[in-house]
Amino acid sequence: MALTSDDALPSRLYQYHDLSRPGRPSTRSGISHYIFRRQFIASCAALAIVSVAALALLTLVTTPTQLQSFLTAAPVTEVEDAQSYLLGPPTQSLRDNLRNDTKYITSWLNAGWTNDVMTIGNLLYLALITERVPIVPSFIPSHIGPEAPTLPFGHVFDVPRLSKALRIPVLEWDQVKDVNSSSLDELGCWAVWPIVEQGAPPRDSSLIPKLNLDLSYTRAPDWVKLTAPDINDKHVSLWSLARLAYPEARETAISQPPDPSPQHQVSLPPDDHLLCYDYLYYTAVTSAWEWNWDYSPVWRFVGKHMHWNATLEKLADEHARRAMNISDGEPTPPFISIHMRHGDFRIYCNEFSDDQCFVPLPAVARRVAEVQQELFDKKGINVSHVIMTSDERDPNWWAEVRKYGWTWVDYAAERTVEKYGRWYPVLLDAILQSRGAGFVGTEYSTMSLLALRRVQDWDDGAVRMAKWGRPGADDH
Ligand SMILES: *[C@@H]1O[C@H](CO)[C@@H](O)[C@H](O)[C@H]1NC(C)=O
Ligand SMILES: *[C@@H]1O[C@H](CO)[C@@H](O)[C@H](O)[C@H]1NC(C)=O
Ligand SMILES: *[C@@H]1O[C@H](CO)[C@@H](O)[C@H](O)[C@H]1NC(C)=O
Ligand SMILES: *[C@@H]1O[C@H](CO)[C@@H](O)[C@H](O)[C@H]1NC(C)=O
Ligand SMILES: *[C@@H]1O[C@H](CO)[C@@H](O)[C@H](O)[C@H]1NC(C)=O
Repeated sequence: MALTSDDALPSRLYQYHDLSRPGRPSTRSGISHYIFRRQFIASCAALAIVSVAALALLTLVTTPTQLQSFLTAAPVTEVEDAQSYLLGPPTQSLRDNLRNDTKYITSWLNAGWTNDVMTIGNLLYLALITERVPIVPSFIPSHIGPEAPTLPFGHVFDVPRLSKALRIPVLEWDQVKDVNSSSLDELGCWAVWPIVEQGAPPRDSSLIPKLNLDLSYTRAPDWVKLTAPDINDKHVSLWSLARLAYPEARETAISQPPDPSPQHQVSLPPDDHLLCYDYLYYTAVTSAWEWNWDYSPVWRFVGKHMHWNATLEKLADEHARRAMNISDGEPTPPFISIHMRHGDFRIYCNEFSDDQCFVPLPAVARRVAEVQQELFDKKGINVSHVIMTSDERDPNWWAEVRKYGWTWVDYAAERTVEKYGRWYPVLLDAILQSRGAGFVGTEYSTMSLLALRRVQDWDDGAVRMAKWGRPGADDH
């Protein structure tokens, strides 16, 4: 499925464009149960302190060492094995695997890979604030061609590490329902897309037939919209969506009968055991396009904990070393990564040719120099290696890139697709971008945006976004 223009770009670009005219037990979720246990242990510790203090006062025999040992309670830091939040291995029908004492939350994907990563970040944030166990969907192919297989989240990201950082279990759909199941599951979900995209049906996703689901949608209340009704913006408020996870708001919110499901024609209210929403890409906590800023709550509380799967990261490192011609035994040197997105961004170029519209290479070089200077000033390192990533196909452009002394991963020569599959060039590009000591990206590209956040927060790197869309756009 092609990335639609509205998914690719913030509405700011349109404006810009105009300008350039030119739980358990049953009442508690698994997480509450987990939190409950922490509180219970904390209460025990508090009680112990009081008792010990009383004892000390009464008898005056307790030494500081003894007191210390009384006060030292075993730390509770590990989330239990996520698998224990399911009844067992994947089942034919999803309900056969859900625990009756745990509440879950899920959603679907349909926004292109990077935006799907952000959508999953939004889902995990919603799981945190609704105290539910998230069931994360697999990635679906979009830019790389619809015939590519789905890709489990855990092949790309380190789920155990994420789960530990979030202090919640993180489940994947493949763990819940047999990927080859022929059993069609009926499920009632909330539809938010019709609220923000006037007149639209619930957002579709190729995951729904893959998961063999027959969904009956209930329109979410109008108050889930992040901005006032007369403001033309597609974002939904995550904290408003969270209200729907609790009985009082849920009851008053169900104002309309559910739409019958397409296959069995069943009308089901939104499921409270497995809470689901059609589409979470356009969601935010305080303001639209929030991932653009360092204060983004979803980035800070979830996104930055989404580290790469180590196997994949090692593969990216091997590709980078070959691109930079690093001999065996030498450590991988720091490098500056660049992401120049062209491809379907051409549709925003209006009357301008590629040369006039996209960031010209001398402007990219100026950004690279700024990043090099900042790295030298801040960390005292000279970073001379530069790795370009881009979806540009024009060999002349790449020949120009070479003239700057920059390198890139030649996926065709590496035979990456043949060896590992169609997902790998884009996955490895994203990892390489994030591993730069410094990074230069393309404004309005969410792939660049995520790389920028990662380089900034994971490695305290130097980052720049280059502007484009008209001649001289990046002049400064
Ligand atoms: C919940 O499931 C367990 C088995 O997993 C069963 O023993 C128990 O009766 C169920 N409770 C309810 C309320 O359905
Ligand atoms: C990384 O992905 C591989 C599959 O490619 C998987 O076997 C492995 O468990 C994953 N590692 C982590 C830490 O998630
Ligand atoms: C699903 O079916 C495919 C094709 O028949 C098979 O290769 C794969 O191993 C099956 N997966 C599981 C988890 O059973
Ligand atoms: C790669 O490095 C080796 C020395 O380590 C050198 O002999 C070779 O010419 C280099 N290849 C390229 C393409 O720069
Ligand atoms: C970095 O490069 C500058 C100028 O080329 C040089 O003066 C300086 O010694 C280098 N610093 C290090 C740490 O290599």
